[in-house]
Amino acid sequence: MSIGIKEINENKAAFDDIYNAPDPRRYFSVLGSLNYMIPDVAEPVIRQILAAKAVMHGASTVLDIGCSYGINAATHRFPVNFTSLLQRYARREMMDVLPDTLIDLDKKFYASWPDIGAARFIGFDISPEAIHYASRTGLHDAGVVADLENNDLTPEQVRTIAPANVLLSTGSVGYVTHRTYRKLLDVVGNRAWAISFVLRMFPYDDFITAFAERGMVTEKLTSATFIQRRFRDEDEFSQCLASMEKRGLDTAGFEAEGLFHAELFLSRPKADAEAAPLEEIVTVSSGRYSKLGARYVRVGSHADERIAIEA
Ligand SMILES: C[S@@+](CC[C@H](N)C(=O)[O-])C[C@H]1O[C@@H](n2cnc3c(N)ncnc32)[C@H](O)[C@@H]1O
Repeated sequence: MSIGIKEINENKAAFDDIYNAPDPRRYFSVLGSLNYMIPDVAEPVIRQILAAKAVMHGASTVLDIGCSYGINAATHRFPVNFTSLLQRYARREMMDVLPDTLIDLDKKFYASWPDIGAARFIGFDISPEAIHYASRTGLHDAGVVADLENNDLTPEQVRTIAPANVLLSTGSVGYVTHRTYRKLLDVVGNRAWAISFVLRMFPYDDFITAFAERGMVTEKLTSATFIQRRFRDEDEFSQCLASMEKRGLDTAGFEAEGLFHAELFLSRPKADAEAAPLEEIVTVSSGRYSKLGARYVRVGSHADERIAIEA
């Protein structure tokens, strides 16, 4: 089945050059032009799952698999989103600076926001440049550069990954298969929770088997799908739809509308799943990403609480 995943992945457009730049400017301009949004639509769901886990087990350390430039850490820890970051890098002044300068500016930028995160982040990616950026800007506490599809972890990488108790992935299944997950699970153990946003076009069965072999159960959120981005061109659209329809998947109302849809899977110990089923933990609020304009919010807490207008 993992060979199937790699073959299916070939129907998707390749973006290798944007993953290996020293900073995320090309990543944002190219994926932004395709309305890439999975980090934004995943963020409130990840927050709800981490909150549920905190009630049972305390604080989380997230290993973000295929983390790229640390966007999941950014959107979780700080009041930024893919669109606001896209706008930051779309300024001509930002286009003009050297990568090292941009990294310094981004480090200051993130340090200037209150950290509203419920977790620490460790990065994991095949791209040394992306991992370097995410560590140097402070988005990640640590990072590992590895390709576990073809290699094994070094002892030092094992030590870096060991504190993780959550495996997260957005937009990465397809690039990584159950092979990578098996090696990571051998390090983090079967008490971890795995939050995976997986394009509907990819079979997840081999991952579920890998979790089951370790006594973990996998739930799928059946009540929602999550838009990843729009198709880049006619070729990508027609090839992806053909590959899905060949596997008997109905694309009507989903990919046939021109957008990649991901599903949410959560894998964890059986007792945890029984105590707090996925459908009870997660509520998806449709429409929160529309351009709504300014709205009322509460600021502060307890006696200090007041109402403000957030733009
Ligand atoms: C579409 S990006 C997703 C990035 C990020 N999770 C997000 O949603 O913004 C896919 C990432 O997978 C990484 N990748 C590709 N092959 C990989 C492998 N074998 N192991 C780890 N990461 C890999 C790429 O370098 C890239 O950063």
